[in-house]
This record gives sequence, C-alpha cells and structure tokens, in this order.
Amino acid sequence: MDASSQNAAAGRRDTLTIVDNRTGKQYELPIEHETIRATDLRQMKVNPDDFGVMTYDPAFMATASCRSTITFIDGDKGILRYRGYPIEQLAEKCSFLEVAYLVIKGELPTKTQLEEWTRNVTTHTFVHENIKKLMDGFHHDAHPMGMFVSTIAALSTFYPTAKRISDPAERTLSIYRLIGKAPTLAAFAYRHSIGFPYVHPDNELSFAGNFLSMMFKLAEPKYKPNPVLERTLDVLFILHADHEQNCSTNAMRGVGSSQVDPYSAAAAASAALYGPLHGGANEAVLRMLDEIGTMERIPNFIKDVKEGKGKLMGFGHRVYKNYDPRASIIKKLADQVFEVTGRNPKLEIALELERIALQDEYFIKRKLYPNVDFYSGLIYQAMRFPVDMFPVLFAIGRMAGWLAQWQEMLTDAEQKIARPRQVYLGTGKRDVTLLSQRG
Ligand code: ACO
Repeated sequence: MDASSQNAAAGRRDTLTIVDNRTGKQYELPIEHETIRATDLRQMKVNPDDFGVMTYDPAFMATASCRSTITFIDGDKGILRYRGYPIEQLAEKCSFLEVAYLVIKGELPTKTQLEEWTRNVTTHTFVHENIKKLMDGFHHDAHPMGMFVSTIAALSTFYPTAKRISDPAERTLSIYRLIGKAPTLAAFAYRHSIGFPYVHPDNELSFAGNFLSMMFKLAEPKYKPNPVLERTLDVLFILHADHEQNCSTNAMRGVGSSQVDPYSAAAAASAALYGPLHGGANEAVLRMLDEIGTMERIPNFIKDVKEGKGKLMGFGHRVYKNYDPRASIIKKLADQVFEVTGRNPKLEIALELERIALQDEYFIKRKLYPNVDFYSGLIYQAMRFPVDMFPVLFAIGRMAGWLAQWQEMLTDAEQKIARPRQVYLGTGKRDVTLLSQRG
C-alpha cells in the first residue's frame, strides 16, 4: 500500500499545512505522490504584488522536474527498473535494441516489432560523406567525446526537417537516426584519433557487433566479433540505457524544451556526459588503480581515503545507498570477458579494495558501495577501448534514454520551456556614470 492509500485508509488528508509566520496565514497544500507543487507556495505573500514564496534547490536535491514513467530507482534498496522491468532480467534476457525499444515505447517488442525496429535503426547507421570531412577537420589528438558531441550537433544541419518536433513521424525518424548513427560517429571519432581509415557500418552484424567492426576492423574482408565481447558490450549498453533525471538527461529535457531539434538537444546531453563528475568516473577508477599499483599499497591507500586525502573512486552514489545493481551485473561480466582477453592485472587490486571497503566501518557507516563505474573501466580496457572512449561508449547506450525522456517531455501537456527562477542577491538599482567620471 502506498503512502496515499495508507492515509486514506486511516482517514487522514494528503495535505501539508503551512503557517506563514510573516502574516500568520495558514495554507493547506495538496500532496500528490509525496510531492507538493512549488507553484502552490506562490500564494504565500506579504504584499499583494509580491512574487510569492519560492523553493531554493541549486542542485535539484529534492525537486522533481517532471513526472515520468520510464525509469524507477530505489537507491536504498539497490533497485533499477526500466518501464517496470528489473535491470537484472533485462540484462540477462534482452538485447540492447529490445531495451531501447522498451525504454522509448514503453513495452517490450514482439518478434515482428523487434525485426522492424532493428531494420529501421540499421538502415540509419550510415552517415553523410560530408560528416567524414567534418571529422577530418579535427586535430589528430582531439578527444573522441569532443568529436562525438560536435558531430551529433552537426547532424541537425543535415536533417533540417527534424525541427518539426510536434510531428510524430519526424520524431520517430530522428530516433532511428540518432540510435543508428551514434555508434558510427563514436567509431569514426576513434579511428580519426588513431589516424586509421573509417570503417563503414556492416549491417549484417548486430548493433554491438557492428560497432566493434567499425572500431577494430583492419584488413580482414569481414570482421567477426568475439561473441562474448559482443554480448558484453550489448549488456553494457543496456545498463547505461537510462538512469532517470541525471545531469545529461536533464540537459536533454532542458534544451529540448526550447523545441530545438533532437540532434542539438542530444549534443547538449552528450556535452553534459563529457564532464568528469558524470561520464568520466570509470577513467578515474583506472587512474586510481594505476596509482595504487601493488596489493601491498592498498592498506595505506584506504587509510589515506579515510583521513580525507582522496576518494575511493567508483564507490558511493548520490542515489544508491546500497550496492548499485549495475555494478553486480558488471562484476559477473568481467569474469567472462577476462576469460577471453586475459585477466586485467588491475582486477586483483579492485577486488581487494572492494573486499576491504565492504568490511570497513568508514564505508559501511556512509553507505558507500561499488557503483557502475568501479568495474566497467576494467572491462572496457580489457576489450581494447582507450580510456578517452569511455564516455563515448556511455553515450551510445544512453542515447536511448535521452530520446525516451525527450519524447516524454514533448508529449507532456504540463511541460513548458524550462526556465528556473533565481534568488537575486545583487545590488539594488544604481545609475551609470560616464567612463571619464569613474575613479
Ligand atoms: N570515497 C571515500 N569517501 C566517500 C566517497 C568515496 N568514493 N564518496 C563519498 N564519501 C564520503 C564523503 O567524504 C562524505 O563523508 P563525510 O560525511 O565524512 O563528509 C560522505 O561519504 C557522503 O558523501 P557525499 O559527497 O555527501 O555524497 P554525494 O551523494 O554528494 O556524492 C558521489 C556521491 C559524487 C558519487 C561520491 O560518492 C563520489 O565522489 N564517489 C567517487 C566518484 C564516483 O565513483 N563517481 C561515479 C558515480 S556513478 C555515475 O556517475 C555514473
């Protein structure tokens, strides 16, 4: 029974009573889904022409910016579900394209629906030849994520009708294109950075297999992906497909709320993901494991962390105060990958760090558990992805979630252009003096 039904059963009202001590007036605000509407506070005024009370929440710590039916997270219990389905079951039983369909359309596809969806995404994997010229213009050591962000944005200039965002057919076409072309742009960015020729999509391969081909194909006439690595990559895309209102999704919704085309909004979301606090933590885990270097140095490292001299990267999460369910799945995948690639020597250090941290009072008290990034970097590295590509890999999977959230936002009658308020703390009105008179 949810909180609302419990209240109704006990004859209690689902409301919040607030007394404004400035005026002595009392207000009763409805509570729905354990949330009050911030605009209900604006009736609280001292003078009739006041703006009314606002909430101040600089990092959205307790503010819901939307109502969504896409992803459910219970951080205390370590639960993640897309459209109601537990992430563990999706990772075990589905392909990434099935999950992308689910996240965007709300239901798992039938066999026929999946075939059609796969065909539509697959026929949009190629990019215009001019995109290659654009890519060629980047410096040889340009970061692949910078190239990815820029070329996603550039797609908007190739598909001018995508700005008709209220046309469902145009939206669907953009969705196929963005899911289909993201791996192509990602692989081209990598190939450019190592000075290798671009590899065209091979539409006979799976979504993940084609990506591996575009990344790593050399002189062989047909690239044959290793099935374990192909499946692992597919599962990693599933695990990253959505994570409700995180920084990049908020960017997708916020920028998309201006009714710009989805390529521009997805470029903004990718830019948000580029930041080290969002898409870059698995790189920091690898750097940390390199710095520790040997098993003997682990106790000293943990001691330093506990003394506040650094963080145990890949541990802790704003939402999960329990084992991140994605981390458990990735840990199992790691064993299968290392059977193919050979063991990443850093794994021993990671396992020992985890063993110690899970028994240590400091980490237990603060509810610090491994997050999705603790083991993913080790797998990516073993699969020969350079560290710079990690956020790009994240973006390929997350594109499905961004598009689902974008479409949900556009079709939500309550959503408008995102325009936060501010608390102004600057000076009051003052007059401009001429430059010659300023001391
Ligand atoms: N190592 C050591 N101590 C930590 C760690 C850590 N990884 N994470 C949090 N703490 C400590 C903090 O120092 C703080 O201690 P205090 O109460 O004594 O001051 C306490 O735990 C609470 O931490 P906060 O920073 O308040 O937690 P918050 O929710 O703001 O931060 C975050 C979450 C940013 C993920 C943090 O745990 C962290 O920096 N972890 C390491 C980086 C990382 O792995 N990021 C990836 C996140 S997953 C993702 O983005 C896909």
